[in-house]
Amino acid sequence: MTSDIDIITSHRIVPVVVLNDSQCAAGLADALVSGGLPIAEVTFRTDAAQKSIEIMSKRDDLLVGAGTVITARQVDLAVHAGARFIVSPGYNQEVVDESRAQGVPVLPGVVTGTEIMAALNDGVIVMKFFPAGTFGGPATVKALSAPFPQVSFIPTGGVNLDNLAEYLSLPCVPAVGGSWMVPAKMVDGGKFDAVRELTAAAVRAVSDLT
Ligand code: 3PG
Repeated sequence: MTSDIDIITSHRIVPVVVLNDSQCAAGLADALVSGGLPIAEVTFRTDAAQKSIEIMSKRDDLLVGAGTVITARQVDLAVHAGARFIVSPGYNQEVVDESRAQGVPVLPGVVTGTEIMAALNDGVIVMKFFPAGTFGGPATVKALSAPFPQVSFIPTGGVNLDNLAEYLSLPCVPAVGGSWMVPAKMVDGGKFDAVRELTAAAVRAVSDLT
């Protein structure tokens, strides 16, 4: 059976979206699906997040998760809204425990060896490396994977078309996260054709790698 994490690792990109208005959620969902990247990490940075997850998760051709989840309560809200995976900017045991209790995969954020060891100790093996660009980019991911060969990293933060290949060429990187194909201004402005084009370009960049 294909798991939701398999869906992420087969597409190799997780679009990280900030929705300021849930009225834009349906158009955004269309743009991602028609652009060929049917995944959305909807960040809990805005009041519109929960409602947007509710709207987007009604589609059965789109994998919707919640990002910027920092409390167990938010895990509960996100999952009840329809989120099928949880992403956190850091490692917090309550967030991991609640995600497991709710039966959804969780990708906690790490940067240092100490954080990786804490997450590993908790049985987590797929982690978000965040914020990737400002913490050394692909070189740091590569260096961290030497002592932690069992860990898969999903670098996020500063990833774009220019550095995508460098991250995805690392065996420890099954996928990256990023907002470059879903800029908040475009989403807020309802420019969904442009979002679809950027999404399709991201998908092409991944297929060019293989
Ligand atoms: C995130 O929350 O994962 C990041 O804000 C996404 O980073 P980016 O906007 O630099 O792609």
